Amino acid sequence: LFSGRVEFLLSAPQLKFLPEPDFPEVAFCGRSNVGKSSLINALTGRRSIARTSVTPGRTQELNFFEVGEPTEFRLVDMPGYGFAKAPLKVVEKWRKLVRTFLRGRVPLRRTMVLVDSRHGLKDSDRDMMTILDEAAVGYRLVLTKADKIKASELEKVAALVAQEARKHPAAFPQIHITSAEKGMGLDELRAAMLFDVRD
Ligand code: GTP
Ligand code: MG
Repeated sequence: LFSGRVEFLLSAPQLKFLPEPDFPEVAFCGRSNVGKSSLINALTGRRSIARTSVTPGRTQELNFFEVGEPTEFRLVDMPGYGFAKAPLKVVEKWRKLVRTFLRGRVPLRRTMVLVDSRHGLKDSDRDMMTILDEAAVGYRLVLTKADKIKASELEKVAALVAQEARKHPAAFPQIHITSAEKGMGLDELRAAMLFDVRD
C-alpha cells in the first residue's frame, strides 16, 4: 500500500482550509526538527513528498497526503513544537493550529508522537501527550534518528520513554524505534499504521 499511490493533497495554514473529513487520518507531531517530514518520506518511499530541512520550523502548515488507490487513508505532517527559528507570534499560531486539530478532528485515528532518540522526552512532548490524553486520541511514541546514537544509549532512552508511556492513558505502551536515514523500524511502523486505520 505504501509503495503504491501516495499523493500530496493540500496544505492547510488555517483550520478553515482542512480537507473534508472523508478518510481516516494519521498525524505526525513532535518537536521542531525531530524528523516528522523525513519519516513520512521514508515510510512512503518518496525522497521528498514532504519537505524537510536542517533548519527547525520547516513545516508551517498541516500537510495532507493521500495513500492508496482508491484513497484508503491520509497522513498529516504537522508543524513542530518546541524551538523553531520563527517569530514567537508565528510559533504560537502553529501551536494553536496543531492543538485545535488534534483535539477536534473526527477522522483522526492515530497520532504519532516523534521523539529524538538522542534527547528522549522533553516537557513540550509531555504537554503534547497530556493534550492527547485529554482528547482521548490514541498515540504511538516513535523514537527517530536511531542511527545517530550508540545501541547501548538507545536502549536506555527507549526504556525511559516506554516507562513514561505507561503512565499516559492514551499512549501505546509499546514504543517504536526508527531511522528514516537507515530504514530502521519502518516495516513495523507501517504495519502498526495499517492496524490503526483499518481497525
Ligand atoms: P520541522 O518541520 O521543522 O518541524 O522538522 P521535521 O520534524 O519535519 O524534521 P525534518 O524531517 O525536516 O528533519 C530535520 C533534520 O533531521 C533534517 O536535516 C533531516 O535530514 C534530519 N533527519 C531526519 N530523520 C533522520 C534520521 O533518521 N537520521 C538522521 N541521521 N537524520 C535525520
Ligand atoms: Mg517538517
